[in-house]
Amino acid sequence: MEQDLLKLQAEALARLTQAKAREEVDTLRIQYLGRKGFLAAIMKRLGELPKEERPRLGQVANQVKAAMEEAMAQAVTRIESIETAQAKERSAGLDLTLPGRRPKRGRLHPITQTFREVCDIFIRLGFEIVDGPEVELDYYNFEALNIPKDHPARDMQDTFYVSEDVVLRTHTSPMQVRVMEKTPPPVKIIAPGKVFRRDSDVTHTPMFHQVEGLMVGDGGSFGDLKGILTTFVHQMYGEDTAVRFRPSFFPFTEPSAEVDIQCVLCRGAGCRLCGQTGWLEILGSGMVHPALYGYVKNGYDTGAVTGFAFGMGVERIAMLKYGVDDIRSFYENDVRFLNQF
Ligand code: DAH
Repeated sequence: MEQDLLKLQAEALARLTQAKAREEVDTLRIQYLGRKGFLAAIMKRLGELPKEERPRLGQVANQVKAAMEEAMAQAVTRIESIETAQAKERSAGLDLTLPGRRPKRGRLHPITQTFREVCDIFIRLGFEIVDGPEVELDYYNFEALNIPKDHPARDMQDTFYVSEDVVLRTHTSPMQVRVMEKTPPPVKIIAPGKVFRRDSDVTHTPMFHQVEGLMVGDGGSFGDLKGILTTFVHQMYGEDTAVRFRPSFFPFTEPSAEVDIQCVLCRGAGCRLCGQTGWLEILGSGMVHPALYGYVKNGYDTGAVTGFAFGMGVERIAMLKYGVDDIRSFYENDVRFLNQF
């Protein structure tokens, strides 16, 4: 009987090393270890043995059972690792039944988005969009804006000169006289576009964007200026954003005002962004200086018309809106940055 048990064990182990699927191991388990299996059949004959031999054979039977169980567990592990290896190999190849990969979708650059948002607000307020040259005459960029010859903005350090009387425009304000020369009052325009300055740090890039505004005739009063720019701020930054008009100076406006908004970070309490003042400057504005009408070639009647103008930096508007603290992020084209807009 001991011989039978050992033979049974050898046979089971041999079949288990051949097994190629988990189902085969399950079948062998039933055949050998099941209630009506081979081991059980041999054990039934235990009663035929002399009493003193029974305990030893019982021990042998237990060892045989343990060896078979062990071999079954090993067979399952072996089969599983073969299956994962096969699955890997399959996925490395071309599987035409897999769904296609979705192409990454592009999106508008945050500066373009902000540009459009600013323009949309003014379009709803009745402004028309005009376009003008980036390579500009010194005359429109400085002279006709009442910027005197010795003004620091005219310095070679600050302005890109193409020739003695041609520059890369340093702001969009030259559009003011250009538009008035083409259109009799009333005028109600915005002029978005690129501007250039010899400047580069965390808040300045040599090229950036501005939106100029001009409203002359038909109610271009200081009250209109305040109303329109307050509406702009509320639409851009939310109805609950406080606005303040702070006296300032520009050669082409009189009086001039800079517009501040309540700090977007600390909401007026004072923080590093606003230099503890609770306010952030977002644009320049003022009543068009009467001298400008004199520069308009076909003539605007200096005594009869009034109007206001404003200008803002689009990057700055976007930085404050989205909490970007380095202007250069807009131009590095890092998709991890751009993806967030
Ligand atoms: N051109 C000015 C600048 O670049 C901004 C500006 C200020 C424009 C006042 C205006 C204005 O039209 O009225 O800093």
